[in-house]
Amino acid sequence: MNKSKTIWFLIVIIAVICFTSQKRGTAEMPGINEKINAQRLWEYMTKENPYKCYPAWPGKEGIYESTMPPGDILRLYINDLALDTVVNKKRIFPNGSLLIKEIYTEENKLSLLTVMYKEKGFNPQGNDWYWVKYGHDGEVKLEGRVGLCIECHVGVADNDYVFTGSIKK
Ligand code: HEC
Repeated sequence: MNKSKTIWFLIVIIAVICFTSQKRGTAEMPGINEKINAQRLWEYMTKENPYKCYPAWPGKEGIYESTMPPGDILRLYINDLALDTVVNKKRIFPNGSLLIKEIYTEENKLSLLTVMYKEKGFNPQGNDWYWVKYGHDGEVKLEGRVGLCIECHVGVADNDYVFTGSIKK
């Protein structure tokens, strides 16, 4: 296959996967409530309800540069629950909200993913966010109540720990 055929082939495959994946970023992750863990979350977000089909944060479609030095190349996916919170400025993300930030190298290769998943009761002092850092292949590098993540994101605790845009009216 030549290059453009290969690209079309991939586009069709992704479209079919997105279309046939029924929940398309809407539902809460099934069965995670008891024992949330990063491996389970990876299965969910890559196989059961593939995050590549999730919407973007409005105004942050496609790839863009981080506001923090050294200006990493990012792509942000949020599930429908999170999108509803952003669009309707609901002040707080509900249980099951999922935000996935991909970080790319300068050669346009996926290098890391940082993830926030809202799990009711997991960490009430930290608005119940479960924090994960994955390698590009899903290797779990950090997970849970990760001090490093929280110490920086706490600066926007009044925006439910989220930097990208205001979720308040
Ligand atoms: C030094 C500060 C800092 C640290 C440490 C940090 N972040 Fe962030 N994070 C940001 C900023 C700023 C953004 C907004 C996007 C941008 O400009 O990079 C962000 C964006 C995000 C987003 C998209 C939602 C949002 O808040 O806008 C997720 C998900 C995320 N970070 C997860 C994590 C995880 C998981 C960790 C720990 C492994 C982490 N972050 C550590 C500053 C930080």
